[in-house]
Amino acid sequence: MNLAKEDKRMKKAWWKESVVYQIYPRSFCDSNGDGIGDLNGITGKLEYLKELGIDVIWLSPVYQSPNDDNGYDISDYRRIMAEFGTMEDYDRMLKRAHELGIKIMMDLVVNHTSDEHAWFVESRKSKDNPYRDYYIWRDAKGGKEPNNWGACFGGSAWKYDEKTDQYFLHLFSEKQPDLNWDNKEVRKKVFDMMTWWCEKGIDGFRMDVISLISKRPGLPDGPVGRSGYGDHGCANGPHVHDYLKEMNREVLSKYDLITVGECSGVTVEEAKKYASAEGTELNMVFQFEHMDLDGGENFKWNHEKIRLTELKAVMSKWQTELAGKAWNSLYWCNHDQPRMLSRIGNDTKEYRERSAKLLGTCLHMMQGTPYIYQGEELGMTNYPFQSLDEFRDIESINAYHELTEKKIVSPEDMFDYISYKGRDNARTPMQWDDSRQAGFTSGTPWIAVNPDYKEINAKEQMEREDSVFHYYQKLIRLRKEHEIIVYGDYKLLIPDSEELYVYMRSYEGQRLLVICNFAEKEMAYEVPEELMGEEGDVLISNYGRTELGHSAVLEPYECMAVLYA
Ligand code: GLC
Ligand code: CA
Repeated sequence: MNLAKEDKRMKKAWWKESVVYQIYPRSFCDSNGDGIGDLNGITGKLEYLKELGIDVIWLSPVYQSPNDDNGYDISDYRRIMAEFGTMEDYDRMLKRAHELGIKIMMDLVVNHTSDEHAWFVESRKSKDNPYRDYYIWRDAKGGKEPNNWGACFGGSAWKYDEKTDQYFLHLFSEKQPDLNWDNKEVRKKVFDMMTWWCEKGIDGFRMDVISLISKRPGLPDGPVGRSGYGDHGCANGPHVHDYLKEMNREVLSKYDLITVGECSGVTVEEAKKYASAEGTELNMVFQFEHMDLDGGENFKWNHEKIRLTELKAVMSKWQTELAGKAWNSLYWCNHDQPRMLSRIGNDTKEYRERSAKLLGTCLHMMQGTPYIYQGEELGMTNYPFQSLDEFRDIESINAYHELTEKKIVSPEDMFDYISYKGRDNARTPMQWDDSRQAGFTSGTPWIAVNPDYKEINAKEQMEREDSVFHYYQKLIRLRKEHEIIVYGDYKLLIPDSEELYVYMRSYEGQRLLVICNFAEKEMAYEVPEELMGEEGDVLISNYGRTELGHSAVLEPYECMAVLYA
């Protein structure tokens, strides 16, 4: 059938209409008092998620892992991490989720494995081991590393292995050797493993750094940065689309899944291939351009503020350029980012809730599939770090040592930067109630609970009608009630304002005006001419506004979405 262009762009799909909720299992809910979140803890909280109204859970890795990078270093893809429970616990969780109508999307970490994975244990044994070529081994070059690449967690991307007198590649930590995707057998093993999970009845995959799997032939040196190492330049490598098409053919196309690729370094042009509306690779990608806006010469380590005009430009580019050609995923937060509320919102007592709702509105009214990261629906904030020993994350700790030891950044500044940008901000335990350890554990949590839990917790918010929780519940519900939110076109208005983020969606004669005041001050606003004289219906407002005339004075951090039908 030859679908007309218009039909194609409106092609409906359940994963376009869904809202995803990310669980970082280690920090979600601890059922047995060992201080570590686990699967039974999740099962016990599924009703909470049902109440919130989400459709899909993205489960950060729960596979067997020595936890060098909290599960993103997998030693057995078909086993559950002992700390998290058993496969029986997993099956029970999956079953209960499905009973409640919630789908489960697994984190698929296959750019690399743990160095404790059986494949790597074999691979490093000898040059002629059948698994040797599962990883990327090279001889020294001039007595040094095979090339100048730096690893994402600091130092060289190569580790020397005495046993066979060669180096192996690791784009992340030394305990995360990169798989060699050019090896057909590796791809087959990965696809078999994915099929195994699909047969179990899971509903999708979030693919970890999937844009990095295809390395450039010859592994050429990259431009050298301040760290002294070269850029690995592995993003969107020569065969990445071939491999994903193959994965789609061999696995994904055989099931009804939701798939999202975490694609560092992805451009709009590349995203149109990864997440093409033709459905030959993935459903959607996580892009990083909005997250990188406050990056700088030391990667992300600084304390810069994102300019609203730049944020709008980036978000709007993705909205308009992918329209009809690919599909966006929408996110402010995940386990790799500090809390967005503390980054571009306002986490002071006075404006915390209002700006949390503002961020939610701004994101959830866009085109794409929204992702909520645990605690975002409560307006959880960054953690007030006081000392280095409060950090758990390999990335922050390594960066602190590397940049201070090389005297690139002073210890005081670096402490400030990791406190502001570090991933542990998102990894503190979920705040369930105002009891000891926020109800997360009856023991000692693996990472400290944010001291603001007495004020910010799920129990209190579920009981209070005007809470952030109930606001998110409404945002999710609205998406189900109004197709315009899912499928409407997007147009940015007043792009030059540093205070207001205003956009309009349109769909089948309807228009949805979304107004967000990102400033801590009152702002005058006038509706666009084409809507003057029309009466809009305020779908949601964080300030109790019930109508909007042709102009308004917006309160600090006020937001609303107004439907003109
Ligand atoms: C992804 C994950 C991150 C992890 C890295 C290496 O970016 O989201 O948490 O550290 O990949 O697997
Ligand atoms: Ca536990």
